[in-house]
Amino acid sequence: MLESLRWRLTIWFVALSLLLYGAGAIFGIFVLSAALTTATDDELRRLLPEIRPSVEIIDDEPTLKTWSTNAQSANLKFLPTIQLFTTKGAMLEHYGAPGVAELKAGTLHSGTGDSVIAVRSEYRPICLHNANGQKKQVGYLQIQVSTKHEDEVIKNFILEVLLLAPFSALILGFFGYVFSGKAVQPVENTLLMLRRFVADAGHELNTPITVIEASLQTVEEMRRDEEDPSEILEVIARASARMKDLAGNLMTLARMESPELVSPKVPLQVNEMVVPLVQEFQELAKQKRINLVCDPVPSLKLLGHNESLSRMLSNLLNNAIRYTETGGSVTVSVAAQDDNIAFVIQDTGIGMPQDSLNHIFERFYRVDKSRSRAAGGSGLGLSIVKAIVESHKGTVKVESELGKGSRFTVAIPYIH
Ligand SMILES: Nc1ncnc2c1ncn2[C@@H]1O[C@H](COP(=O)(O)OP(=O)(O)OP(=O)(O)O)[C@@H](O)[C@H]1O
Ligand SMILES: [Mg+2]
Repeated sequence: MLESLRWRLTIWFVALSLLLYGAGAIFGIFVLSAALTTATDDELRRLLPEIRPSVEIIDDEPTLKTWSTNAQSANLKFLPTIQLFTTKGAMLEHYGAPGVAELKAGTLHSGTGDSVIAVRSEYRPICLHNANGQKKQVGYLQIQVSTKHEDEVIKNFILEVLLLAPFSALILGFFGYVFSGKAVQPVENTLLMLRRFVADAGHELNTPITVIEASLQTVEEMRRDEEDPSEILEVIARASARMKDLAGNLMTLARMESPELVSPKVPLQVNEMVVPLVQEFQELAKQKRINLVCDPVPSLKLLGHNESLSRMLSNLLNNAIRYTETGGSVTVSVAAQDDNIAFVIQDTGIGMPQDSLNHIFERFYRVDKSRSRAAGGSGLGLSIVKAIVESHKGTVKVESELGKGSRFTVAIPYIH
């Protein structure tokens, strides 16, 4: 699927680039042709006054006969087309290269097929000054220059543009493919993570489902033998509680990763949040004969979501109690540290090996799988903690020593 996305991106990239290339080439043709025409017109305007003094007026008509006999030696063929016209536009004389027999300025054409002549033409009136100083127009002097050379330059330019197009497409395609590969890389990584996540979640759900299926079969048999199934029903209840827990954790994670689903942050008084929460855990700690202590909480405020922050602290407290042996202790303390509020949850529990500390915030990671699962854990608690802390622009740090205990420090910016 990603490979086809990559190809589609490449094709779009090449198509758009070629479109731009085409537009640039058309613009280039226009600019080149305009520049060539301007240069030719400048040349015509320079030539006209140069030839004008050689025009004689005989019998009220302009002529270049004397000039042409002198110019014979200079070989007229290499001259531009020079033509003389009457005031009515009838041609009188023609010299130089073949031209277009029309009294007109601009680009002119004549002939058909291979014998088409294309010229750029310019003309000026020729006037006679009589003895009284009066001016009388007697005809026109016209000069035409062939545009063959310019047309060839443009034709070659178009040919080069067309020849370069397939090579450009190949090179663009190569780079497009390489860069689109880089562009789809993050999507590929996300998809991989998602696939692993779905597989892990499926695996986690599979265990309680298997337990429930097997237990139901036992209940059926017990019913037949008229035995009391209450013990097995308790197993089913525990498995279903675990599934509910897992579903809740998955939903929290999904919510944390979709900012649009998270309600806006509000100012929260830290002691109002921490003290009652620790109180709630006292019962659980008492059951395990663990000493749960909460140091005095200073009156500090932070911007956050009450529900998610309570969940974050609950997950840490839950772990501290779950992974501490009977008779141990768990201490909660809150203090201002630079611009942050530091929440510290410390226990004297089983601790963790150093090499697992880098992984405990990963989804479904458990240091001791069987022990955690037996304790009802799915390995999502700390990944939820991390997601919540990060959504509050904070950091979470862990220090632990195997057999001695662990210390989790969460730092979240506070309101001054
Ligand atoms: N305070 C702690 N002391 C020792 N080990 C801990 C502590 N907190 C976490 N761990 C280890 O880190 C692992 C990951 O913790 P996490 O909270 O993510 O998952 P869990 O407790 O196994 O399951 P869940 O919290 O989803 O019910 C745990 O399985 C445990 O091995
Ligand atoms: Mg946990």
